[in-house]
Amino acid sequence: MLNNQEIKKQILKILKAHPNQLITGAYIANTCNITRSYVSKVVKELIEIGYYIQIKNRSGYIYQSDDKVLDQEYLKKNLKPLMDVIVLDKIDSTNNYLKILAKDSKKEKILVVANMQTAGRGRLGRNFLSNNASGIYMSMLIRPTFNLEYAKKLTCLVASAVSIAIEKMTNLDAKIKWVNDIYINNKKVCGILTEAATQFEGGNLEYIIIGIGVNMYHQHFDDDLVKKVTTIEDESGQIYSRNDLIITIINQVNQYLENITNDIYMEDYIKRSLVINKKVELQKNDTTQEVLVKGITKDGELEILVNNTIQKVTSGEITRMVLLNE
Ligand code: BTN
Repeated sequence: MLNNQEIKKQILKILKAHPNQLITGAYIANTCNITRSYVSKVVKELIEIGYYIQIKNRSGYIYQSDDKVLDQEYLKKNLKPLMDVIVLDKIDSTNNYLKILAKDSKKEKILVVANMQTAGRGRLGRNFLSNNASGIYMSMLIRPTFNLEYAKKLTCLVASAVSIAIEKMTNLDAKIKWVNDIYINNKKVCGILTEAATQFEGGNLEYIIIGIGVNMYHQHFDDDLVKKVTTIEDESGQIYSRNDLIITIINQVNQYLENITNDIYMEDYIKRSLVINKKVELQKNDTTQEVLVKGITKDGELEILVNNTIQKVTSGEITRMVLLNE
């Protein structure tokens, strides 16, 4: 008896051999020696992870495309430098997964991508909606040789890379909302969560996990969220491959990392900022204040105008930033 994974492969093989043609459930069931209801269950699982298969009620299935499907081999071949790539169907959080793996593995770099997360995490203990295969949910483990001073700016480096990658691929104007969100047309399309582990002795960095979540394909957001978040499909009207965007993002991150001491990524970060010269509401502890953002320093601090003087604030001090309409 074949296991679920093998059945999945077999059904895919049958469907892919006849693209755009109706294949009956009975034919698949006979060929794989399983029941029609099992065929239906497996096809639904394939759809869940991104395959475009039409279900024709009571008659069968039509295979359309795999444009949205994650492809481990393709990722492995195209990532620079070469690294281990793990593709998962479902996990609590790719950051959590890598944290456990980092303890047993000595690998310099590992990339984990999941179709769905059941407990995706954002900054400041917030949730990150990622419960279906309509986005990129990935984490990369790195073992840095650079010092803490640079590690603090890593979120900015990653934000610059994501913003450039989205723009390269889609031509959309992807801006950075300090400190770690990517916005298109004033709505959030991506969030970044970097987490570091220091060695017990010496306080050196042992590893860093860079977690990136990008909303790719149209999905239902509830009333509250729909005003604040968007997807690349909604903004461009196109379906882009998750594999290609992952490769473009990770290769850009790695290119910046190789030259981390030259600060080019900070120049890009500042150029791509959504908040410079904008009025924002900042929440710091229990107080909120409306301020004008004058700039961002090379260290990633926000420069705000308060009582005619420029003050600097770090991301650690601020729990919320809301852009105000002019
Ligand atoms: C934020 O918006 O505050 C950050 C969101 C980061 C989400 C990504 S998705 C992949 C990785 N795994 C997680 O649990 N979080 C990050």
